[in-house]
Amino acid sequence: MALDSKTDAPRGAGPAGPRHVAIIMDGNGRWAQMRGRPRLLGHHAGAKRVREIVEACPDYGVKYLTIFAFSTENWKRTQSEVAGLMSLFRRYIQREAQDLYRRGVRVRFIGDRIRLDHKLVTLMDDLELLTSGNDRVHLTIALNYGGRDEVTRAAKRLAYEIEMGRLSHKDVDAETLARFLDTHVLPDPDLVIRTSGEARISNFLLWQSAYAEYEFIDTLWPDFSASEFGRIVQNYAARDRRYGGVKAPA
Ligand code: IPE
Ligand code: IPE
Ligand code: MG
Repeated sequence: MALDSKTDAPRGAGPAGPRHVAIIMDGNGRWAQMRGRPRLLGHHAGAKRVREIVEACPDYGVKYLTIFAFSTENWKRTQSEVAGLMSLFRRYIQREAQDLYRRGVRVRFIGDRIRLDHKLVTLMDDLELLTSGNDRVHLTIALNYGGRDEVTRAAKRLAYEIEMGRLSHKDVDAETLARFLDTHVLPDPDLVIRTSGEARISNFLLWQSAYAEYEFIDTLWPDFSASEFGRIVQNYAARDRRYGGVKAPA
């Protein structure tokens, strides 16, 4: 970790920095197309960027990093792109598992696993288990994830608990519902970054980002670097989060 020589504190945004950063990693396809190459090549280039960003997190006091890898809507893409992405996810986990473990990264997956192939789900489960004792950085990978799908699944499980008599409708409040979300063990994101110039959230962490700060940047994901990440995280400290209240007088 890069420490400030005087204070021994992590370099970067400091205590006012974001504890949880979420990233919509967009622009892989365009990155490849600009080079006259197949879209899948862009996805491979994009996957290579993840390690550097994970490594940069402790330097900036970011404890939780959540990345959007595949949405519930991405099944609409061609069969060959979807198959290529699924194979990339399998290979990525196989290749990176030991390294993530050694670097103290705790990996979790969010999203609906039901539509993912058995081999991939086994690799995901194994990686979660392998890294479950780590605490340096908490990396959450959203795979077959959609915010509406997540809230719907949570509501369904909540309804089931009521049907079984284990919960009353009177117990249902925001906190109870959040306990049924895939993210139930994670803090809400403080900062959501989207690359590639699109200013939309595409069904990412809808519930959890109610009060997140957003940063939309033009860089395509395969060109995103730790230094750009650091700049964005440091800029966050200047933001004034009011959560619907008014700023206390200085
Ligand atoms: C993001 O890159 C990765 C996934 C959605 C899987 P895209 O594939 O969406 O890249 P563009 O937006 O087409 O450039
Ligand atoms: C969002 O990107 C999903 C991921 C980054 C995994 P998309 O490229 O799928 O989003 P849209 O289609 O531009 O909204
Ligand atoms: Mg895209």
